[in-house]
Amino acid sequence: YRVVVLVSGSGSNLQALLDVCGQGANASATPIDAKIVGVLSNREEALALPRATRAGVATAVVKHRDYAERIDFDAEMIKHIDAWAPDMVILAGFMRILTPDFVSHYSGRLINIHPSLLPKYKGLHTHQRALDAGDTKHGCSVHFVTPELDGGPVIAQHRVSVHQHDNVDSLAQRVHQAEHQLYPRVLGWLASGRLRWQDGQIALDNKP
Ligand code: GRF
Repeated sequence: YRVVVLVSGSGSNLQALLDVCGQGANASATPIDAKIVGVLSNREEALALPRATRAGVATAVVKHRDYAERIDFDAEMIKHIDAWAPDMVILAGFMRILTPDFVSHYSGRLINIHPSLLPKYKGLHTHQRALDAGDTKHGCSVHFVTPELDGGPVIAQHRVSVHQHDNVDSLAQRVHQAEHQLYPRVLGWLASGRLRWQDGQIALDNKP
């Protein structure tokens, strides 16, 4: 099961995915049946890139600033991604909005992780917004990507408690840890065939 991961930042989710695939230094002893075959970043300074290289995974950089039009940036990314022939394209802290053309090119093969309990808090500053609202529960969601930002069908969520004295940093850290559990679990379901995109809907089998 071939996977391409798109990143912009530190790549801690990428690391969790590499580990569960048995790739790289902290590789899980019982890896799932998937392989990360390429990592693409829109920022050459993304710390995710050396994580990929250390794990022996091919990388590519397509800088959004080199393209006046979003559609041309996306077309260049598609070239790189399709050369890796992925079964699934995983957004892991990829901070650019994708065109509908890109999204439909990977229809049913594109997932994202978002640091909130969707449909709450689409977009940015999710931890601050959860604190401002006085929420007692917060968390992260993995969803299929549709043209609506953070709006595609939710596959799974991981909840965390909001503590009384939390600030943005402490809460973000707790959610990040939850992400590192949730994303590898979802990739495992995909690789085993338990989770599928079927007729424009999520199909998730009960545990065998
Ligand atoms: C995560 O919080 C993810 O939910 C959001 O971007 C962040 C990426 O973190 N989309 P990392 O680069 O995986 O450490």
